[in-house]
Amino acid sequence: MDLFNVYPINPINIVRAKGSSVWDAAGTEYLDLYGGHAVISIGHSHPHYVETLTKQLNQIGFYSNSVEIPLQKQLARQLGEMSGKDDYALFLCNSGAEANENALKLASFHNGRKKIIAFTKAFHGRTSLAVAATDNPAIVAPVNQTDNVVFLPFNDEEALTRAFQDFGDEISAVIIEGIQGVGGIREASVSFLRLIRSLCDQYGTVFIADAVQCGYGRTGDFYSQDYAGVDADIYSMAKGMGNGFPIGAISISPKFKASFGMLGTTFGGNHLACAAAIAVLDVMKQENLLGNTQNVGNYLITELKKFDKVEEVRGRGLMIGMVLPDELSNVKKDLLLKNRIFTGEAKPNIIRILPALNITKDIADIFLTALDERLKAS
Ligand SMILES: Cc1ncc(COP(=O)(O)O)c(C=O)c1O
Repeated sequence: MDLFNVYPINPINIVRAKGSSVWDAAGTEYLDLYGGHAVISIGHSHPHYVETLTKQLNQIGFYSNSVEIPLQKQLARQLGEMSGKDDYALFLCNSGAEANENALKLASFHNGRKKIIAFTKAFHGRTSLAVAATDNPAIVAPVNQTDNVVFLPFNDEEALTRAFQDFGDEISAVIIEGIQGVGGIREASVSFLRLIRSLCDQYGTVFIADAVQCGYGRTGDFYSQDYAGVDADIYSMAKGMGNGFPIGAISISPKFKASFGMLGTTFGGNHLACAAAIAVLDVMKQENLLGNTQNVGNYLITELKKFDKVEEVRGRGLMIGMVLPDELSNVKKDLLLKNRIFTGEAKPNIIRILPALNITKDIADIFLTALDERLKAS
């Protein structure tokens, strides 16, 4: 049997990892400033993470949501505390798409409506409703196409206000990334997020903050949308939550009422996944990773802005997009092949930097030196 060939891959076989370094089968070390699509939050193979997961696996790895799983309550307690939303409720699932799918469903159950507002360049995942709310026709199958999703220009307050004036009573949810990741590290403005909050209040619409990539401390706030000073009704999360162990979740405001069977999943919230997520939160707290993210993130952004050849630096904390001119489209590949540094990309010509939240200034300097070399060579 062969693999279904859907991923363009780098010809590198990573066999070992520690902190922000990974090694291939020949023993060559690479610096990882991408964390496998923003997933590695506390660094690869963090000792506390390895120990917690190993211990848990030796006790019990999985049982379904038909029995008590105290680890779920512990995770909810710690997540409520760390995110500053301890009156919210937690529903656990397995991925970012699934988190958004459940958020959109819950909104529709709540207000009985069908329309969803999403924004240009949004990426919310590949399951049916999440992909319908994703602004990329190439990945939307005919069966997923629906008139229920309306795309509006990102950060366009006039267009949003007009849409609510025209059909506000039909809008179930507005879904927005605080910083668009796949869309090229574009930040929702404070006034736009506040307008969403006030229109949602006025019309009984649910405000969904997709924090799958920009959340979980990645920007130095727990959810990137926090910087606007307003609360969303539902936050979706995944990626950094399990530091590589598949887990996703939605954090749900007290205004929603749960009923048996309303949402569900076989794997979501299993013992091993909860142990992984708890270990991540332990480390985030013990090592003050939100503070480190702000410090090293600010440093990197300031330094990147000093490069003449970098057209624009976007983002916050350790979610950084660097826009390069067309003729420097080789830089990302050269960083990997010549300097052995993993970064990400968003087309065209945007390098995405999404390292572990515990990277040091020394690691940031290694990257800055390598980038200087690459830009001088181009
Ligand atoms: C903002 C955002 N939402 C949702 C998803 C989907 O997450 P997953 O790939 O875990 O389904 C992604 C993945 O890149 C994302 O960046």
